[in-house]
Amino acid sequence: MTSAVKRKSKDHLATLKRGNLVFQWYGNFRFTALGLKTITQVKGPLQTKRGSKNARNENGILGNGAMGSALARAFLANKHTVTVWNRTASKCVPLEQAGAKVAHSVAEAAQASDVIVANVLNYTVSHALLQTPEVVNQLKGKVLVQLATGIPSEAREMETWAKQNGISYLDGAILDYPKGIGTKECLIIYAGPEAVFEANQSLLLL
Ligand SMILES: NC(=O)c1ccc[n+]([C@@H]2O[C@H](COP(=O)([O-])OP(=O)(O)OC[C@H]3O[C@@H](n4cnc5c(N)ncnc54)[C@H](OP(=O)(O)O)[C@@H]3O)[C@@H](O)[C@H]2O)c1
Repeated sequence: MTSAVKRKSKDHLATLKRGNLVFQWYGNFRFTALGLKTITQVKGPLQTKRGSKNARNENGILGNGAMGSALARAFLANKHTVTVWNRTASKCVPLEQAGAKVAHSVAEAAQASDVIVANVLNYTVSHALLQTPEVVNQLKGKVLVQLATGIPSEAREMETWAKQNGISYLDGAILDYPKGIGTKECLIIYAGPEAVFEANQSLLLL
């Protein structure tokens, strides 16, 4: 399988081509459909901003499945703090041993974090976890990065909800397997306000 990324300009949508074009269509449709300024995060030779001096925030990850755990480990490996929460608490134990803090509820994770990454099964689960008054209250003024796989309408809905609740929102698609997270070849595409991405790129450019 081959992959290539074409960047039209700094602020423009990346066109991703991987093997049989499925990802190219998906990336284009999802992110142009979002109607947001779109940002690309590109690993390897095209990545120019790694190592920039962002503020070191407190970070949280909701969902410690295969992918959420890989993200948490990559954050820790890059010396970012991480508070993790998972429905099945036992999955937090290896991450705690690796240096993560463990929250006992979504609200507690949100309270502990300036930037919170949601990486549960899908948007429906994210909605259920995030859209409670208690959690919304903790997320106000913070950054939510939604990395579950989904479709354009789900991304748009979550962005609208976040805006309505004073939450800065980035939507992302991980185009790799958990074992690729944190490697030079890993590709994650983010969409959302550029300033929010820029402020957090040292975390997001894993
Ligand atoms: N794995 C990949 O190769 C890959 C690649 C790209 C994108 N993704 C995307 O990343 C996301 C996570 O994938 P994954 O590989 O980490 O899947 P996974 O290993 O099956 O983990 C799923 C996660 O979602 C949680 N979850 C499921 N239903 C829930 C519910 N009703 N309430 C609370 N939490 C719930 C699980 O909690 P429990 O542990 O309690 O079950 C677990 O943390 C998905 O959207 C997936 O499409 C995955």
